[in-house]
Amino acid sequence: MTGSILVTGAGGCIGAWALRQLVEDNQRVVAFDLSKNTRRASLLMTEKQMQSVQWENGDIADVEALRAVIKRHNVEAIIHLAALQVPFCKADPMNGARVNVLGTVNVFEAAREFGINRLTYASSVAAHGMGETPWLKTLYGAYKMCDENLAEVYWQDWQIPSIGIRPVVVYGVARDQGMTSLPTLAILAGVLGKPFEVPFTGTVGFIYAQEAAMAFIAAVSKPQQEAHVYDLNGTPATVQQVLDITSRECPGASLTCTGDPLPFPGELSDEPLRQAISPYPSWTIERGVVETIERFKQLVASGALSESDLIPGKG
Ligand SMILES: NC(=O)c1ccc[n+]([C@@H]2O[C@H](COP(=O)([O-])OP(=O)(O)OC[C@H]3O[C@@H](n4cnc5c(N)ncnc54)[C@H](O)[C@@H]3O)[C@@H](O)[C@H]2O)c1
Repeated sequence: MTGSILVTGAGGCIGAWALRQLVEDNQRVVAFDLSKNTRRASLLMTEKQMQSVQWENGDIADVEALRAVIKRHNVEAIIHLAALQVPFCKADPMNGARVNVLGTVNVFEAAREFGINRLTYASSVAAHGMGETPWLKTLYGAYKMCDENLAEVYWQDWQIPSIGIRPVVVYGVARDQGMTSLPTLAILAGVLGKPFEVPFTGTVGFIYAQEAAMAFIAAVSKPQQEAHVYDLNGTPATVQQVLDITSRECPGASLTCTGDPLPFPGELSDEPLRQAISPYPSWTIERGVVETIERFKQLVASGALSESDLIPGKG
């Protein structure tokens, strides 16, 4: 590929991991985000790696800004991650629709205008809640379901292909906002030697953030056909397992989980996604949690992370 890969929402958790991977793969990468804060990426990347990214500040709901960035950087592939998570959509439904729905329309419009045929976007396990077997209905899930529907229409009417990916619970360094960021914050609490309680229990699909980023990258590694949507479940594990691994590696940690299991479907398979896209690696829960602990220890030692980072949604 001679052009660039555009990552929207690049200031977020999966975005930061995607940037790092793309830089390591020597790809030309453009980071687009509403926020000018590049802190999450800096938790993962060296200063030199950060400088090789083209940073663009803009609102995904502003199609002119998006068009200008695509033109300026000769974008050939888009990894669309920009979104507001569950609590932010609930707090401001209109802005949730503006970012999570209009933003996605803009990405598809731009793909149509510039003939981009490598497009992946983040849907969510929350879209399952809007189906025939409702799990948890949220405005966020409704917006993500709408995105999947409009992707189908962009293929039907204009032959704009896409791959939608529905992650379950992403964990790892830089996962710090949204309801399901709490297991990651518990790992950080263990490293800091602070008590922490996760207010849900049960088995859920945990996806190491690097695995999630690599799945999105694999999805745009070649031109696509049609509009497909796939689950990304990672490794099923209990919240307690995450806490047990952390407690073993961080003696003295005081970590608990309580309450009901997350109302997510339990038996989602990654096989259809893996068959559809280029191969990407997977992390066991043991390896992912241990790698997260190791990196958190370095970041705490350097002063990059501290107790104030245990508050979710700090941004
Ligand atoms: N993390 C998970 O467990 C998970 C699970 C399911 C789906 N997803 C989806 O994956 C994607 C990435 O998740 P994440 O955890 O990295 O999210 P995140 O909340 O960490 O990052 C989202 C990013 O989008 C940016 N953004 C918000 N509004 C914007 C706007 N108007 N214009 C441009 N950028 C804007 C934010 O500044 C932020 O940097 C999102 O679409 C999310 O809904 C994530």
